[in-house]
Amino acid sequence: MVNSRWWQEAVFYQIYPRSFADEDGDGMGDFAGIIRQLDYLEHLGIDAIWLSPHYPSPQVDCGYDISDYIGVAPEYGTLDTFRAFLEGAHQRGIRVVLDLVLNHTSDQHPWFQASRSGRDHPKRDWYVWRDGRTGTDGERLPPNNWESSFTGSAWEYDPATDQYYYHHFLKEQPDLNWRNPEVRAAMWDVVRFWLDLGVDGFRLDAIATIYEHPDLPDHTSDMTLLDLYAVWATAEDPDVLAELGREWERLFEYQFDLPEVHDLMKDLRQLVNGYGDVVLIGEDEKIAYYGSGDDELHMVFNFELMRTRRLTPPQIRANQAERLAQLPDGAWPCNTLGNHDSPRVKSAFGDGVHDAELARLSLALLLTLRGTPFLYYGEEIGMVNRVLDSLEQFRDTLALRQYALAVENGFSEDRAFALVRKATRDVARTPMQWSNAPNAGFSPAGVDTWLPVHPNYAEGVNVADQLDDPTSMLAFYRRLLAVRRSSPALRLGEYESVLEDGASCLAFLRRVPDQLCLVVLNYTAQTQSLAPDLPYRVTEVMFSTPARSGPIDLVALTVAPYGILIAEVAVA
Ligand code: GLC
Repeated sequence: MVNSRWWQEAVFYQIYPRSFADEDGDGMGDFAGIIRQLDYLEHLGIDAIWLSPHYPSPQVDCGYDISDYIGVAPEYGTLDTFRAFLEGAHQRGIRVVLDLVLNHTSDQHPWFQASRSGRDHPKRDWYVWRDGRTGTDGERLPPNNWESSFTGSAWEYDPATDQYYYHHFLKEQPDLNWRNPEVRAAMWDVVRFWLDLGVDGFRLDAIATIYEHPDLPDHTSDMTLLDLYAVWATAEDPDVLAELGREWERLFEYQFDLPEVHDLMKDLRQLVNGYGDVVLIGEDEKIAYYGSGDDELHMVFNFELMRTRRLTPPQIRANQAERLAQLPDGAWPCNTLGNHDSPRVKSAFGDGVHDAELARLSLALLLTLRGTPFLYYGEEIGMVNRVLDSLEQFRDTLALRQYALAVENGFSEDRAFALVRKATRDVARTPMQWSNAPNAGFSPAGVDTWLPVHPNYAEGVNVADQLDDPTSMLAFYRRLLAVRRSSPALRLGEYESVLEDGASCLAFLRRVPDQLCLVVLNYTAQTQSLAPDLPYRVTEVMFSTPARSGPIDLVALTVAPYGILIAEVAVA
């Protein structure tokens, strides 16, 4: 038997609390709603929930601006409703991982309120305060040229104490000063609070931004982030995209990925190790955050896969070859194709014609690659981006600020709107579509939901219509999740690529001592004939679209358009 930890075998499902289930009918989700849907999640077959921030927050960045780390947002419930949720999940064998935002708090957090109250306040140094500079005409300038990764200066002037504070994200999200040991002690108390309540781990927000260079050297890029985004919005050429990536690194050279983060992660790992089998997942793709393999984070996301414009077999093969080879001994991969910051899987990887087929391939890929898969709510019913029609509908402050900045910088309103309309993260955060009732059954009829519901709930993109339809996306998710759950090789096996140069199909083996599985995914609209040249025969078809009957010949294997084959094989 392979020795494994629960989070290696688990399939995670991300819940965005504002959009999952609205029990009290106020147009946004809540814990009572999530509790009501726990049976649904159990039926779906997921093993763990990653809950996006549920803490009290002014919601300027949709909960990623926390004003109380040990509370529950009143619109979502109370600590008691949270406990009931946790207990209900655990009773069903579902673990719960919280979102932990270490880099910054809300500007409404009492720590920041205290810090900004005076230069001599004992909490002044809990945040990053600096004097400004004076320009050649005597004008007041920020301490340096650093930008916020949400565009615009990273410094906000505070007239009351005549200093600037640093914010890597919005100005309402001041960065904590992690060089101050009191900050670490206070945040580790927060971690203990939730672990004592029984949560199973944390997804760590934006870890790379926790430290910045203490000497504040100017960055050396000639571009502003807004310029960069404007080019990026339409760029297709891989060389141009790669150059933009390098430019981005120049822009954030001194604000990103400082070596100090690793010591901090080691410290946090030590803390959680004292709680048994608790998991830490970093919002980053860099292998370095695994440390030696068991002394920093348990997992970081394979974001390269999620951020590719089109998933193709050669590109997936290259990603796997490179990434799996880089992992230190004992480190475990983690794959995802969508979350609350990125477009919906069906929209992102569709071609406009075969979106449903490609979405199914995406799930098959995620559930069969080596590593822990993360799904995003609504993906299982084929929810797609809800492109918004007007700025008034936007809730993503990032997009609103970018729009304002673009107009300020001479963009026409139309051009500025075009820039943010598709990029706003709102498109993937709309309410879960539960049924073909008004408001998709998320909120009662007539209630204004916090973001508009996608109208396609009336065309079958909803849970109720799909539950009993064996051909639905939801049925497909359930079947494939069950196949993965029943197969030790798919959950834990080694990965071995087959068909090294095939452009149309991806094929690989997953192997544990007791089981060997072959996975073949056809990424084209044509039937493909393959001769994988393997010394194996198929002993059982575990999953196939379309369904197959009769023996399968691995010497002359045909795979239907967008076909999926998962088979157990043995030596011929
Ligand atoms: C992370 C979150 C994102 C948030 C940002 C700032 O990237 O995923 O939603 O806006 O951090 O907290």
